[in-house]
Amino acid sequence: MKIGIYPGSFDPMTIGHLDILSEASRLFDVVYIGVLVNTAKAPAFSAGERVEMIQKAVIAAGLTNVVCEAFDGLLVDFARQKGAEFIVRGLRATSDFEYEFQIDAVNRYLEPKIKTVYFMASPEHSFLSSSNVREMAFWGGNINGLVPEAIREIISERLRKQ
Ligand code: PNS
Repeated sequence: MKIGIYPGSFDPMTIGHLDILSEASRLFDVVYIGVLVNTAKAPAFSAGERVEMIQKAVIAAGLTNVVCEAFDGLLVDFARQKGAEFIVRGLRATSDFEYEFQIDAVNRYLEPKIKTVYFMASPEHSFLSSSNVREMAFWGGNINGLVPEAIREIISERLRKQ
């Protein structure tokens, strides 16, 4: 069994995340999405809300070998617990490289047997991030096509400025 972990804050999940997840689900027998509970930034959505939204999007996308869970603590511990040898991350632009390089170095130090594999984001998603989705939704901007359709309304309603 080839098991992959796709970790992140997913605050909220974007269509770019879903794209990478779909690619990973073709490569691995099982993909565990690990939703980080305590992100450095105070999250807009609780871990429970993020997991629930991802589950909705995964079901709507028909990805049957994907399991979504929240995790706290070290990523390598979550990966070991799931029996995963691989971590999946997405890269949008060279600006992501420095950040990913550091995460990879820490994870390699902690557990050299676990390797990280990278998927390049589609060019049309290169500008897309959870933080700019949050900002657009807050000001009532159109996020159609930027987040999975199954969770678009929940995101717009929850984040829209009162
Ligand atoms: O979506 P993000 O916020 O860029 O994801 C970052 C994430 C979750 C991959 C990273 O913060 C993480 O793995 N945190 C768990 C703590 C940990 O293992 N730290 C060591 C690697 S930096």
